[in-house]
Amino acid sequence: MNIYGKSVVLRAFELRDMELLREMLNDPSIEQMVVGWAWPISEFSQEQWFRQLSNNGKDFRFIIEYEGKAVGSTSLTDVDWKNRKAYTGIKLHSSSPKQKGIGTDAVMALQRYAFDQLQLQRLEGSWLDYNKPSENLYLKCGWVIEGIQRQAIYKDGKYHDLKVVGLLREDYEKMVENSKYWES
Ligand SMILES: CC(C)(COP(=O)(O)OP(=O)(O)OC[C@H]1O[C@@H](n2cnc3c(N)ncnc32)[C@H](O)[C@@H]1OP(=O)(O)O)[C@@H](O)C(=O)NCCC(=O)NCCS
Repeated sequence: MNIYGKSVVLRAFELRDMELLREMLNDPSIEQMVVGWAWPISEFSQEQWFRQLSNNGKDFRFIIEYEGKAVGSTSLTDVDWKNRKAYTGIKLHSSSPKQKGIGTDAVMALQRYAFDQLQLQRLEGSWLDYNKPSENLYLKCGWVIEGIQRQAIYKDGKYHDLKVVGLLREDYEKMVENSKYWES
């Protein structure tokens, strides 16, 4: 089942998406903003990675489609079915339009799926202290900063603090009620 936001669709990864994903991994401007780290990824290793992906019932990765075009990816990973929580992430390709609400709609669609379909209770994430686009996006979507991991991530010759964040089902419901996001 594909997941629909107001303007985006979240769908499964296909082999044809590997180049988009590879370009995002190889893009230094994205690497600078995300918590994880990457090395130069070849077409071969990208395709190999995709072919060994299994449907393990714990990690769900989606392509974000906007106006019929793949523009990025988002995910629910490490789903913990007992404690009903998962980790989330998002990346838009550098060629995709920014500050047009694509990120917000993708995060909102993912949150609705997580809470209303998967019946999760909590989502978790983190962002680098200087990642303002991410902070603005997630705070707008109801997330709460729960703590700081000091000097947790090394990039560009120095250590950076990591903001550890969470969203409870009740935070999401309150935000939807206040913003009327799904009504407009
Ligand atoms: C973070 C990211 C997904 C945001 O996507 P986007 O489609 O531009 O986000 P939106 O248009 O929905 O904007 C959401 C909010 O964040 C704000 N925002 C987005 N980019 C911003 C920027 N560069 N500077 C300041 N605020 C920004 C928007 O103004 C908006 O708030 P508003 O509605 O109050 O104006 C995108 O910039 C990206 O992919 N960055 C690289 C990867 C990354 O950092 N991923 C997250 C790792 S934790």
